[in-house]
Amino acid sequence: MARVLLLGSTGFLGRGVAHKLLDAGHQLRVLVRDPLKAAAYKVRGAQVLVGDALNPAAVHQAAQGVEHVVSLVAVRRNHPQSYLAVNVDGPRMLGEAAKAAGVSSVIYVSVIGAKLDPKYKYLTSRWMGEQELAKTGVAGTILRFSLILGEEGGTLDFFERTAKFGPMIVIPGTGLTQFQPILREDASRCIVDTIGRADLLGKIIELGGPEVQSPWRPCSKIRS
Ligand SMILES: NC(=O)c1ccc[n+]([C@@H]2O[C@H](COP(=O)([O-])OP(=O)(O)OC[C@H]3O[C@@H](n4cnc5c(N)ncnc54)[C@H](OP(=O)(O)O)[C@@H]3O)[C@@H](O)[C@H]2O)c1
Repeated sequence: MARVLLLGSTGFLGRGVAHKLLDAGHQLRVLVRDPLKAAAYKVRGAQVLVGDALNPAAVHQAAQGVEHVVSLVAVRRNHPQSYLAVNVDGPRMLGEAAKAAGVSSVIYVSVIGAKLDPKYKYLTSRWMGEQELAKTGVAGTILRFSLILGEEGGTLDFFERTAKFGPMIVIPGTGLTQFQPILREDASRCIVDTIGRADLLGKIIELGGPEVQSPWRPCSKIRS
């Protein structure tokens, strides 16, 4: 079992990953802005450090003595925190801090569709973040997901707002975009199973569930 630092543990996916790490017997350390959001992990034996995942000194300190760092920190909106600060500068700073702390690997979660395309600022920021992380030279694996499904929060909230907004449903992107939804439980297991996998270092892996769907499907299901 490994000593693991998890960043982004208080978010939608983080809540699944943190408990999976603890279930698997890993020694979990989390860096959080609000310790109350990490109370359940603390009760289960995790070490809770308070700090900002965008603060290099806080991340460097948090990474001391751990073998692996998992980062789920990202923003889907450019405000109040910017894509540049969180999705681009964040992974670079993470790579530098993790490397300086001597960790064995960084597992960074990104999105399927991350690419350099001025039409899609969010996807461009995620692609740039992946590049920035790789440039630091830290050993790592990038896991990309599309839509992650869980009971509360996550991208499904976005579809729910979209579906209930008005008489028409506005489909994001070109309308031709396909999703491969995965349950949060399964996405969390994939992330935990990547820990210690030397054969996956240096790879970008795209992960999804068994069905390929149009974004129309979740919207119309929510409506019906
Ligand atoms: N949800 C999906 O359907 C989906 C699909 C594909 C990929 N992903 C990827 O999975 C990852 C996690 O997504 P999510 O849905 O769990 O997002 P989320 O619910 O918005 O959680 C984001 C996490 O990042 C943290 N964070 C943001 N800015 C921070 C900062 N400055 N300092 C410290 N922590 C900060 C948040 O902490 P606070 O609680 O303090 O705000 C939270 O723990 C992201 O990389 C996302 O792109 C998600």
